[in-house]
Amino acid sequence: MKHPSVATIVWTWVLVVIGVVSLSMWALTDRTQTFIVVFVTIATAAFLLAALLRRSVVQPLHDVREITTAIAEGATSERIVVPASASEEVHRMATAINRMAEKASTDINELRRLERVRSEFVANVSHELRTPIFSVQGYLETLLDGALEDPDVSRPFLEKAYSNAMRLNALLSDLIDISRIESGELRLSFRYFNVASVLQDLVQTMEIRATQRSVHVQLDESIHEDVMVYGDKERLTQVLTNLIDNAIKYNVPNGRVVVSARRQGDEVIVRIADTGIGIPKEQVARIFERFYRVDKDRSRAVGGTGLGLAIVKHILEAHQSTVHVESEQGVGTTITFTLRAGE
Ligand SMILES: Nc1ncnc2c1ncn2[C@@H]1O[C@H](COP(=O)(O)OP(=O)(O)OP(=O)(O)O)[C@@H](O)[C@H]1O
Ligand SMILES: [Mg+2]
Repeated sequence: MKHPSVATIVWTWVLVVIGVVSLSMWALTDRTQTFIVVFVTIATAAFLLAALLRRSVVQPLHDVREITTAIAEGATSERIVVPASASEEVHRMATAINRMAEKASTDINELRRLERVRSEFVANVSHELRTPIFSVQGYLETLLDGALEDPDVSRPFLEKAYSNAMRLNALLSDLIDISRIESGELRLSFRYFNVASVLQDLVQTMEIRATQRSVHVQLDESIHEDVMVYGDKERLTQVLTNLIDNAIKYNVPNGRVVVSARRQGDEVIVRIADTGIGIPKEQVARIFERFYRVDKDRSRAVGGTGLGLAIVKHILEAHQSTVHVESEQGVGTTITFTLRAGE
C-alpha cells in the first residue's frame, strides 16, 4: 500500500480544520462549535500520529520481518534496507540484524568449505586404499586358484602381494599422522639435538634405496660435525626422511642429492638439494596439499600417495618454520627450512 506523504497529510488536516471551523462559525451554537472543533482537532492529530508511526515504525518493521524470515529460510545474502523515514531505533535494529546475517553467512560458507574438504578427503582416502587392497586380493586369489603350485609365478605374486600390503601399511600410518596432526592430538616434545648426526644417519640408511635408482646421496662437504637445533627430534627426522625420499624418488639416473645444515645467527638452515626432474612453476605451491602429485602415474609407480609433504608442512608449522621450494624442471629442486639453533 502506498502511504500519503507527510505534506499531504498536513495539508489535508489544515483544510479539514479550516472547513470545519468555518462551517461551525456559520450555523451552530457555541458549545457545539467548540465540541466539533476539539473533536476534529483530536481526530486529525490521532490520524496524523498513526500515519507517522506507520511510516517510521510499522512498515519498516514489516519489511524487517519479511527479510529476516527470508534469511532464516536460507537466503543468507539478503540484507535489510530501511527507508530514510524509518525511526532511529528501526535503523539500529536493521543494522544489528544485517551484521548478524553477515556473520552467519560467513560461518555457513566456512562450514560448507570444510565439509567439501572433508568429503574430498574421504573420497581420496577410499580411492587410495582401494588400489592396494584389490591388488593383494587379486594376487592371493590367483595363487589360491592354482598359481601357488607354479614356482615361476608363486614367488613374484607373493612378493607383489607383500609389497602392496606394505604400501597399505605406509598409507595408513600417513593417514593416522595427518589426522592426529590436524586434530591437534599430536604433542611435540622439544629438546636440543644434533641435526648433523641425524642427517648423517639418514644418508646412510637411504643409500641403499638411492643406489637402486642410481642416485647418489651425500652430506654437504662443509657441514660441521655438531649442528645443534631445538625441536622434536623424531618428527623432524620424519620431515627429513620425507624430503630426502622425494629427492631420491623424483631424481634421474646418475642424479645427486646433497643435504646440509648450517648455522646462521640464531637459526639453522637445513637444505635438501637434488638434481632431479624438478617441479613445474605453477604447481610448486600445490605440492603441499594432501594427495597432490605432479605426475600421478610416476608417483604411484614409486609408491607415493601425496601425503608426505602435507605432513612435512604441518610438522614444520608446529616448529614455527616454513618450507621454501626452489625448482626448475629438468634441473632439480632445492628445499630449505630453518630451525631454532641450540647451544
Ligand atoms: N624433490 C622433488 N622433485 C620433484 N618433484 C617433487 C619433489 N618432491 C615432491 N615432488 C612432487 O610433489 C608431489 C607431492 O610430494 P609428496 O611427498 O607429498 O607425495 P609423494 O612423494 O607422491 O607421496 P608420499 O610422500 O606420500 O609417499 C610428488 O608427487 C611429486 O610430484
Ligand atoms: Mg613424498
